[in-house]
Amino acid sequence: MKPGILAIFLCFIVGVENIGAQPIQQKSAATQHWWKEAVVYQIYPRSFKDSNGDGVGDLKGIISELDYIKSLGVDVVWLNPVYQSPNFDNGYDVSDYRKILPEFGTMADFDSLLNGMHRRGIKLVMDLVVNHSSSEHEWFKQSRSSRINPYRNYYHWWNAENGKPPYRFSLFDINHDAWQYDTLTNAYYLHYFSDKQPDLNWGNPKVRNEVYSIMRFWADKGIDGFRLDAFQFVAKDTTFPMFPKGFEKNFMLYYAMQGNLHGYLQQMNQQIFSKYDVMSVAEGAGNTFEDAHNLVDSNRHELNIAYAFNGVDLAKPNGYSLLQFKSIFSQWDSAFEHSGWLAVFLANHDQARMVSRFGNDAPQFRTLSSQMLSTFLLTMRGTPFYYNGDELGMVNPNFTSIHDYRDEVILDAYKHTQLTGGNIKAFLKNLAFGARDNGRTPFPWDSSLNAGFTTGLPWIGINANYKTVNVAVEENDPNSCLNYFRKLMQLRKNNPTLVYGKYTLLDKNNPQVYAYLREDAAGKFLVVLNFSAKDAVFNNLTLMAKANVVLVLANYINKPSTIALRNKIPLRPYEAMVIKL
Ligand code: NOJ
Repeated sequence: MKPGILAIFLCFIVGVENIGAQPIQQKSAATQHWWKEAVVYQIYPRSFKDSNGDGVGDLKGIISELDYIKSLGVDVVWLNPVYQSPNFDNGYDVSDYRKILPEFGTMADFDSLLNGMHRRGIKLVMDLVVNHSSSEHEWFKQSRSSRINPYRNYYHWWNAENGKPPYRFSLFDINHDAWQYDTLTNAYYLHYFSDKQPDLNWGNPKVRNEVYSIMRFWADKGIDGFRLDAFQFVAKDTTFPMFPKGFEKNFMLYYAMQGNLHGYLQQMNQQIFSKYDVMSVAEGAGNTFEDAHNLVDSNRHELNIAYAFNGVDLAKPNGYSLLQFKSIFSQWDSAFEHSGWLAVFLANHDQARMVSRFGNDAPQFRTLSSQMLSTFLLTMRGTPFYYNGDELGMVNPNFTSIHDYRDEVILDAYKHTQLTGGNIKAFLKNLAFGARDNGRTPFPWDSSLNAGFTTGLPWIGINANYKTVNVAVEENDPNSCLNYFRKLMQLRKNNPTLVYGKYTLLDKNNPQVYAYLREDAAGKFLVVLNFSAKDAVFNNLTLMAKANVVLVLANYINKPSTIALRNKIPLRPYEAMVIKL
């Protein structure tokens, strides 16, 4: 981002007239909102808890574990899609936005889930998947049936007599071709994801009104927010100009935040977000800080929270640089210090497990490094989005055969690799590190058969370490990841400084240690995290030495309750400390 543009974003104070009073500050990053103070716990419903023995998690399963969710101390649950769907993409291909997928239960189950959450003071955020629908949605069935069908313009079509449409890149298609030819009307339709997920035409006001009506349906039920799937892609130049050769290497520049995207969001805000007390977050935040600000700065009346991938994208099979990691999170923090608001996350259902990518899942370091990463997430400014199972320190399952995987996108890519003579061994190795199925294995509740997840055959394999990494075992261990997570939650809840306070990076060039201050008028915390498997030293270059500072939380057991703040603080592997100054 150019410095000039950054300066504009940092100018957030606008005086407004107020009868008989001093000018007041308009909303800034420090303006308090429930969605800023919340910790969002993401539940992948397919893998959380199965109530009927069909091997697939369901709504009744979640209902039966609401007390567990409450015991974590989280405020909001984000539920991945539970709508009617042929399930090509595990619910991200919706065929009826007002129905519940029978595998997950009924609308009555949904209502009691929502009730049960609200009774416990937990809010519910739902996925809204409207960049595309399923190809089995009635709209698409109509649309493809004839060129003059009233639903034709709900999607993007290119008549074949005009030749092949200009190349568009598809994220899920094995040939990466986003145009699918359909014989029925001799035309191509557009799909940025798979051919079973045709893109909706947001330029058509009827489509937008359909979406608002769907949103009203759920908001009227009382849900508390929407996560807008792939929304940064919805606006397209429907003249479909040629993009430069090789654009796909940088397709985000051509796909994200195009056309009238902000107009659509402002309309959605006016129609829905301004009328209900709901939070809103879009998947992705464009290409620049400017894009992200344009989504969430409060004076624009679009969304609440930007969810950017720069941090989470850093982990590679051969590791990542902590210096880069610190730099990314620090830059995002400073760009949003005064306006806008961010999500902070290291995992979700599209990522492999947090500890396997950013920590160390070897048995001797799994607990420590999981706790260290959780300390990071819950002491940063922004709304933490925390993925189910990470509170237990769940690891990648180390699948070795393609038959272990269920993700159709992976299965297609495997076939393609086979057919094109690719390196299958390398392909499988990459999957074991980064495939999204790594984060989708069943939630381990106890040491019984199938980890207490199901009495049937689980839809995807259970982690081999489930006898030691599960809720029942961790409940009884005061030093478990689970109990540490609860303490962290309490710390954040009791100290809004950790939500709103200023963030300052310390010991910037330390390649092993991430240390920062969080402070405001109410308090000051020093967070010190050893991101490495080796002993390390935090070089305290700025803070005054002090004999007894209070250690409010630490992941090594038998730590004293106070320590000396010296110029050099030694740290053991993956040690995490939160110190009150
Ligand atoms: C992002 C979702 O998180 C992912 O799971 C899905 O496959 C794509 N969007 C397409 O909807």
